[in-house]
Amino acid sequence: MKKIGIIIASVREGRIGESVAKHVLELAKRSKNANYSLIDLKKINLPMLNEPIPAVMNDYQYPHTKAWSKIVSDYDGFIIVTPEYNHGYPAAIKNALDYLYVEWNNKPLAFIAYGYSANGARAIEQLRQVVSYLQLKPLWKDVVINLGQNAKDGAFFSNDTVDNQLNEIIKDIENTLVS
Ligand SMILES: Cc1cc2nc3c(=O)[nH]c(=O)nc-3n(C[C@H](O)[C@H](O)[C@H](O)COP(=O)(O)O)c2cc1C
Repeated sequence: MKKIGIIIASVREGRIGESVAKHVLELAKRSKNANYSLIDLKKINLPMLNEPIPAVMNDYQYPHTKAWSKIVSDYDGFIIVTPEYNHGYPAAIKNALDYLYVEWNNKPLAFIAYGYSANGARAIEQLRQVVSYLQLKPLWKDVVINLGQNAKDGAFFSNDTVDNQLNEIIKDIENTLVS
């Protein structure tokens, strides 16, 4: 069965991202069409990119890069769950993307973002530019979540409207997996 990784883009202490991603995982696991698991960038703990050769050359020097390459290679598609930081994406997700190249190529990708004034949409729009060079295949639809309405005491909570959107994007990414 195809594997989809749910990437938690936020690594800060007290992050809301973990509760968002875990909720997405819970919904996704109801599907029998793919295997879902979390890819937690906080646990993977990559240093800021220190490879001497750009990833596109596929010549990795460091064990942490080789380990990250193995993890990403194992997946057929991804869902990035990201906050918006200063109207852009968090450094941790850009760093994790920059480490690799061929491992990302031609794999479908869905975005789920959360935030306040723009519900995280600006992080998604910036990430669209980056993932296009990596030849990831982002869905044109995405899900954006308003933390004013869907978070309390530092934790995300869902409702039917958000769940319907999440279920829809889970269906959409499964439909784009290459069989
Ligand atoms: C460095 C930083 C910058 C932020 N910038 C934005 C922003 O531009 N837009 C926004 O809606 N929220 C912004 N916020 C608020 C975040 O949406 C909120 O803190 C959210 O919980 C961050 O996700 P996380 O908890 O998973 O890290 C910012 C938060 C941080 C820590």
